[in-house]
Amino acid sequence: MRTDHVEKVVEIEKKSFPAPWNRSVFVNHLKHPEFAKYIVATIDNVVVGYIGLFFGGNYGQITNLAVDPAYQNQGIGIGLLTTIIRFALVKKLITISLEVRVSNSKAQELYKKMGFNFVGKRQGYYQETGEDAYVMCLQLEQNTKIIP
Ligand SMILES: CC(C)(COP(=O)(O)OP(=O)(O)OC[C@H]1O[C@@H](n2cnc3c(N)ncnc32)[C@H](O)[C@@H]1OP(=O)(O)O)[C@@H](O)C(=O)NCCC(=O)NCCS
Repeated sequence: MRTDHVEKVVEIEKKSFPAPWNRSVFVNHLKHPEFAKYIVATIDNVVVGYIGLFFGGNYGQITNLAVDPAYQNQGIGIGLLTTIIRFALVKKLITISLEVRVSNSKAQELYKKMGFNFVGKRQGYYQETGEDAYVMCLQLEQNTKIIP
């Protein structure tokens, strides 16, 4: 992701999440490639999806993943996740975790398909709605699945 991608990313962010991150959050993270990695998917040079990862030591945390509603169910989400897992392997991370709303079965299915397992639940994790989050984890050395 480059700074000129951020405007479109924020548009998709607003369509996707009840508490969307604003432009300055993404711009600040892009200044820190030593711990933050963002990848975009584009069609005809227009951003249609993105994924973010914080990483340090052997550990990574997916910060956000979204695909523009007009382009969902075409494999773009899987493609973004696959690409960030490849990046994590290069960085020699051994664990990637994430939080996902308990109601978001579509995202959970996608994460399970990529080898993530449910490891816990955070009560009332999403402040804006009070919804609980499942914590899901991928152990990279043992069960990484890369879909070509
Ligand atoms: C979750 C999200 C990123 C998936 O992106 P996508 O490009 O539509 O996903 P894909 O087309 O790659 O589909 C991946 C898998 O999701 C699952 N999936 C897709 N549609 C589904 C549905 N309606 N119900 C359940 N699972 C579904 C399937 O496992 C699918 O694999 P398959 O097509 O081989 O069956 C997208 O729906 C999105 O942006 N949602 C809003 C934001 C969000 O919830 N982000 C995740 C936060 S944790």
